[in-house]
Amino acid sequence: MPTSNDPPAPSSLLDRLPAERWPHHIAIIMDGNGRWAERQGLARVYGHDRGGRVVRAITRECARLEPIRQLTLYCLSSENWKRPAAELDFLMQLLERYLIDERPIMMEDNVRVQMIGRREGIPDRVLAELDRTVEMSHANDGLLLNLAINYGGRGELVDAMQKLARRVHAGQLLPEAIDEQAIAQSLYTAGTADPDLLIRTAGDLRVSNFLLWQISYAEIWVTETPWPDFDEHALHAAIEDYAARDRRFGGLNTLTDPP
Ligand code: IPE
Ligand code: IPE
Ligand code: MG
Repeated sequence: MPTSNDPPAPSSLLDRLPAERWPHHIAIIMDGNGRWAERQGLARVYGHDRGGRVVRAITRECARLEPIRQLTLYCLSSENWKRPAAELDFLMQLLERYLIDERPIMMEDNVRVQMIGRREGIPDRVLAELDRTVEMSHANDGLLLNLAINYGGRGELVDAMQKLARRVHAGQLLPEAIDEQAIAQSLYTAGTADPDLLIRTAGDLRVSNFLLWQISYAEIWVTETPWPDFDEHALHAAIEDYAARDRRFGGLNTLTDPP
């Protein structure tokens, strides 16, 4: 029972932010695992291991915050294959374990899982667990969790252009009919909304080939905090910062100017 001596409970983000100020889709470049580990004299893989636990916490929090409908996590880029085999093996094992261990939690939280990226190159046993998770969660209608695995924004555009070119070649599509909507519908993210808020942890000011088409008007929020130290409070800070921004989309001030 709260007594009159208790400090007032901080009002929650859900109470404080009006519905129209929430980001509906958050995309995260989860960076800094290796640096986090190296800073404390540990091997880089410890950072990945700890980062996996943060994925669970942040996904759960996004599922709880109902105005957030989509979360896209950059798990492995198409360029990350340049890393040493031992680190990649560890990442694949971690991913496989994660996909198995998180299933009950995803079901409890009503999370629907999808994968964006190229399947080629990902070990079969990881793909099998991924397919099982996607299949098991497909009827969930809460948060949509897009896992970007072996993902590259340029590669995605190449795949989309090839898809469109094949349709033109087959006489199913006129070149003049290729518009922004046709391109968006040919991406891995077809049918889903673009990110409103792009978060990058660990301080680097670059997009590293992530969602190049989809982030054209995303609000960017970068924190120095490396991914293994990211938590619900940092997520809330990013959302609050986003909520205070004026998204003009090339127009004039949407809050004060007449339509
Ligand atoms: C992000 O952390 C995880 C992946 C890219 C798989 P990093 O492994 O890039 O960590 P840093 O950037 O080297 O610290
Ligand atoms: C981006 O991080 C990819 C992921 C977080 C999966 P990187 O560590 O690969 O990015 P760069 O190499 O510093 O640009
Ligand atoms: Mg990195």
